[in-house]
Amino acid sequence: MTFRHLTVLILLVSCHDQSLPYEIVGDSILMPLTDTMPDAKRGKDLFSNRGDAHCVLCHMHDEAQVEFQGNLGPDLSGVGERLTPGQIRLRIVDYEFIRPDTTMPSYFRTHNLTQVRSDKIGKTVLSPLEIEDIIAFLSHHAD
Ligand code: HEC
Repeated sequence: MTFRHLTVLILLVSCHDQSLPYEIVGDSILMPLTDTMPDAKRGKDLFSNRGDAHCVLCHMHDEAQVEFQGNLGPDLSGVGERLTPGQIRLRIVDYEFIRPDTTMPSYFRTHNLTQVRSDKIGKTVLSPLEIEDIIAFLSHHAD
């Protein structure tokens, strides 16, 4: 084996050694991203708030109290009946894992990011608890 082959090999190995802070099973992340108890009310605020998560830029939801809601993505009212919390989790964390050409941003992905501003390196768009709050909001059944 030449030195060049060895370099290629090492590169390949290091690419596969991206230890992610979560485990993907099928099209889900089964385990919550944090042990802290999530809060559906906070999740609803995050979902509706243009400043933070700006989900309403692209999604509608019956319970989001925002006048203008986008329709680039599917209506998420009742998404908890279509998708499990684990499926919703992967879709918020890293939709590109499911569909590489999606326009849905990845909110908790730290690998393979291009053009990351230097002050954002290693930081995700939303915190683990913020994502769990939003999952709690989207998964609860309206009563
Ligand atoms: C820039 C637009 C955009 C933003 C912002 C956005 N999404 Fe999406 N989202 C999409 C699109 C488009 C899809 C459909 C996936 C596809 O076709 O690639 C989608 C799909 C989803 C799905 C899967 C729905 C289903 O029925 O399969 C969930 C859940 C979701 N988004 C949640 C969120 C949440 C929560 C936020 C905010 C944290 C958010 N999205 C922000 C564009 C967006």
